[in-house]
Amino acid sequence: MKQEKLFAGKTLAILSGGGDTPAINSSIESVRNRALMLGFKVYGIRTGWKGLLGDGDIVDLTNRPYNGLYGGTALRSSRTNPFPSKKNPEDRVPQVMKNLKRYKIDVLVTIGGDDTNGAAKRLYEQEGIPVIGFPKTIDNDLRTLTMHSFNGKETDAVICPGFPSAAKSIAEFATRLKTTAESHQRIMVMEVMGRDAGWLTGAGTFGGSTISLIPELEMTKERKERFFDAVADTYKNNQNKSLIIPVSEGVRWYNEKTGTCDVVYASTEQDEYGHARLGGVCGTIASEISAKLKIDARAQMTGYYPRSGMCNAYDRRLTQALADKAVDLLLREEYGQMPVLKKVCSYGELEEFNCGSIDMGKIGNRPLPTEYFDETKFVFTDMYKDFLEHIIGKPEFETFCTDFPKVHPID
Ligand code: F6P
Repeated sequence: MKQEKLFAGKTLAILSGGGDTPAINSSIESVRNRALMLGFKVYGIRTGWKGLLGDGDIVDLTNRPYNGLYGGTALRSSRTNPFPSKKNPEDRVPQVMKNLKRYKIDVLVTIGGDDTNGAAKRLYEQEGIPVIGFPKTIDNDLRTLTMHSFNGKETDAVICPGFPSAAKSIAEFATRLKTTAESHQRIMVMEVMGRDAGWLTGAGTFGGSTISLIPELEMTKERKERFFDAVADTYKNNQNKSLIIPVSEGVRWYNEKTGTCDVVYASTEQDEYGHARLGGVCGTIASEISAKLKIDARAQMTGYYPRSGMCNAYDRRLTQALADKAVDLLLREEYGQMPVLKKVCSYGELEEFNCGSIDMGKIGNRPLPTEYFDETKFVFTDMYKDFLEHIIGKPEFETFCTDFPKVHPID
């Protein structure tokens, strides 16, 4: 006798919101495949919450192959907020509710960060829509409560899909930049995305960098002086007379003219969640290093490089393990939850039994643990390196010894 699948006749819809990552398609594919096995019909909501406004913009993912290796999101993304915001005071929840009904969507899976999942949780609490969250951000600053033990110390770390691929790209970017910096004996101030937290910036250390700056550490007048001293010393002691200094886009840097510590905006226009666009602090820092230390320094933006391109193997398996946990949540009807990794895992340990779940409405910014950054020396600690090694493996950069014997003229 043919047995009816548990969720036959039900529809699950997936949406992705916020900045893209290389692992969103992999998350969509993993959730879709498992939902199909449970008997769901699977829809994709295009452009985040925006796809549930107006007439709706929904596609059927049920009988089509889906390429989860390809980076970004084939469902597209937006920073649309269904709730009233400063930028858009209109309450669009009634439109969302109307479309969920019109398209007969029974369960919603929202792939996003704090903003997208925060809005989903509010909808669940306010309107009773069954939602399950799915973590996503290259900034890696969601409170996933992923435990990390190292040399007798413990901290709650974070591993979000998207970060592993992005961290690998940042390590590679620094590795490549190193040869140019060395050739010209320059300091490269390398700016990395990370609005509030320095998780991704630390990946530069796996490309050979040492001194770094993170948003968690306000660069006051006094700290700036110590930073310049550290830069001068490290440059002097570097055998190739060069340095890569990764800095987070959200670094607050003391401004001599105003006497305040400010972030640098690329644009002050805010999105529907109240965020302005950051960017450009590397230029300020590089020109101050040049002026103060009389060392040639250049600013380099890594920009969208870490967000772009294919999903790496770690992210692929991570999204699959988290999707397995999402199945567990669906079966138990534990809505308003999000699957997460329970402990910092290496590739081979990415399994459902190492996953747990958290309240998707309480995932707001998790700064870099203090154990991960030595603010007296402006360097990432061995504990951070252990954390990152689990995810992207050992650093792979090479060094070129230029200690050639000097030839003297025969006079
Ligand atoms: O997704 C977060 C993030 O990567 C931040 O680090 C950055 O500030 C933001 O995206 C920029 O996104 P966009 O340029 O797409 O608005």
